[in-house]
Amino acid sequence: MRVLTGIQSSGTLHIGNYFGAIKPMLELQEKSDLFIFIANYHALTSLKDAEAMKKNTLDAAITFLSLGIDPNKTTFWAQSHVKEVLELYWILSSFTPIGLLERAHSYKDKVAKGINANHALFSYPVLMAADILLYDAEVVPVGKDQIQHVEITRDIAVKFNNEHGNIFTLPEFKVDDNVATVPGVDGAKMSKSYGNTIDLFTTEKQLKKQVGKIVSDSTPVEEPKEYENCNIYTLSKLFLNEDELANLRDRYTKGGEGHGHFKMYLKEQIWDHFEEAREKKAYYDTHHDEVLEILDAGANKAQAIASEKMKIIRDAVGIL
Ligand code: ADP
Ligand code: TRP
Repeated sequence: MRVLTGIQSSGTLHIGNYFGAIKPMLELQEKSDLFIFIANYHALTSLKDAEAMKKNTLDAAITFLSLGIDPNKTTFWAQSHVKEVLELYWILSSFTPIGLLERAHSYKDKVAKGINANHALFSYPVLMAADILLYDAEVVPVGKDQIQHVEITRDIAVKFNNEHGNIFTLPEFKVDDNVATVPGVDGAKMSKSYGNTIDLFTTEKQLKKQVGKIVSDSTPVEEPKEYENCNIYTLSKLFLNEDELANLRDRYTKGGEGHGHFKMYLKEQIWDHFEEAREKKAYYDTHHDEVLEILDAGANKAQAIASEKMKIIRDAVGIL
């Protein structure tokens, strides 16, 4: 089963991103033909600073490699390294009714927010369709906000196929409903826009500070404590096994320890959990050449598929 997704480098990742988006990818990598690329052409629709563009692309690659994306199992590359995607983008544009793009929520929301829209932002879903259709992806894991873009991809593919035969595989979107929403330090959904995050790659001091901000009730130290609705406990569940959890529940119900102790324990768990990833990141941060080589090798694999597919597509539409 070919599963494909694009990632936009969006700066500092938090543990909500890890459990909600990255960990499911690590599981998929074990059981599917996984394709992941860094959507740097898409990033250009909103980012105009060249240094920041380069840095974000590298950072995204480093983050995913450090967290366990394995280039021996997953085809992993930067979108801009396979130019065929731009050719297909143009061809698909000729099969994309304007109305289809005008209905895109993501575009409409951005315009409503007062963003000065450019053409690339408008045609963003067509490039996304090219990303997906070029590789005959069957399943596309996305966040809820991207579902409509996969539906647009299907619409474009159907239009093309009606004209030229069964050239494109119709992709299904996959939204992971099983993944629980990770709460932030204030108990609301952890999100970078709410400033309530616990970050993945941070210093131990900063981690301690972020965990310290978790809101908890003010039961006195000696009294037994509720763990059911305790944010510290909910977050601890992400890192502990059954025995460790039972042990932690005991500590809550016995009394004699304050929430500060449970926070210290959680902080240790988080710090240890990402130790290997931190080490890998420190390595890649100082070995950019190796990162670029990995992306290049991934691009070669992707391109072998893309160039074969483009021959079929060009032939179908009569491009010499
Ligand atoms: P943010 O809300 O911090 O801006 P994004 O919207 O960039 O996060 O989300 C990137 C990915 O991480 C998406 O797949 C999203 O579903 C997942 N994600 C983000 N926050 C959480 C959370 N609190 N719990 C679970 N998954 C999350
Ligand atoms: N638009 C997606 C996002 O913002 C990223 C993306 C680009 C993508 N091309 C894709 C996702 C193709 C899935 C398939 O998250």
